Amino acid sequence: MALESKYIWMNGELVEFEKANVHFLTATMHYGLGVFEGIRCYDTPNGPAVFRLKEHAQRLMDSVRILDMPELPYTAEQVGEAILQTVKANEFAECYIRPLVYLAEGGMGLHFIGAKSGLGIAVWEWGNFLGPEAMEKGIRANIASFTRHHINVMMTKSKAAGNYVNSALAKTESLKLGFDEAIMLDPQGYVAECTGENIFLVRNGKVYTPPVATVLGGITRDALLTVARDFGYEVLEQPISRDMLYIADEVFVCGTAAEVVALSEIDFRTIGDGKTGSVTRSLQKAFQDVIRGKDPKYENWLSYVDQVSVKLPQSMSVPAD
Ligand SMILES: Cc1ncc(COP(=O)(O)O)c(C=O)c1O
Repeated sequence: MALESKYIWMNGELVEFEKANVHFLTATMHYGLGVFEGIRCYDTPNGPAVFRLKEHAQRLMDSVRILDMPELPYTAEQVGEAILQTVKANEFAECYIRPLVYLAEGGMGLHFIGAKSGLGIAVWEWGNFLGPEAMEKGIRANIASFTRHHINVMMTKSKAAGNYVNSALAKTESLKLGFDEAIMLDPQGYVAECTGENIFLVRNGKVYTPPVATVLGGITRDALLTVARDFGYEVLEQPISRDMLYIADEVFVCGTAAEVVALSEIDFRTIGDGKTGSVTRSLQKAFQDVIRGKDPKYENWLSYVDQVSVKLPQSMSVPAD
């Protein structure tokens, strides 16, 4: 996967890709003291549009607040504008967007006092994160031997860089065992989420997902809850045990990177008939229509890239004669 682009936005300006560097001694790299977002921009009939930009920018600010990191010198709205500028400058019709708040100044102490936050925003072309066949056929998952965070050990509502060590442990284990993704249980043993996705099950026509209290408040999760309710499905947010997954008619996962993907098998047990089920398919299709601007009902979830103007770095702009 090439993470390349022409420009990366760093602390108020677009810089050339090669110049977007942070020093080795940033405590973010040593201790995972940073927060980030994962966002997507899609091609629509009205040009490239970022899906749920406002909610993502707000979640980034919330993540900063939760960790008690030094506040950024920008509002959520300004962060949103910088995201649109970064996409526009790179001229991608569709891309993944990665803002990261890191420690730009400060020592190696295990605290944020006297530190300064920096913000970088990168974009790159990234197709479906779980692979091109995943949407069609679904993927195979296992229950991870690693427990998901306890809510008083890590802050699960913050998209904190350090939280993802736990995800990487589980995902590596799953891939080495021959699965595609890991399902993680919370410290009480209930189903929490996957390593980078929220999880849903369908049984007897009803849609279930774990309560948001212990997991990341996924923006795709929220979008699907809204769309599913608008479709008339009964949707329940309630604790889910692993055996409820085994006997579900359908299980699917969702997230910005993965979009909506069925789980065809969990712990060697076939889910339903082992194919992407009808409810999952209908939500998958609805989601694709929403993100690509084909459903006017959810038009307010799209922010068009063309609404911003960009200022490219001096060295790259064409001299005036
Ligand atoms: C742990 C975890 N859960 C759920 C999600 C899904 O969240 P979203 O739909 O906002 O991308 C993600 C991805 O950001 C994640 O990392």
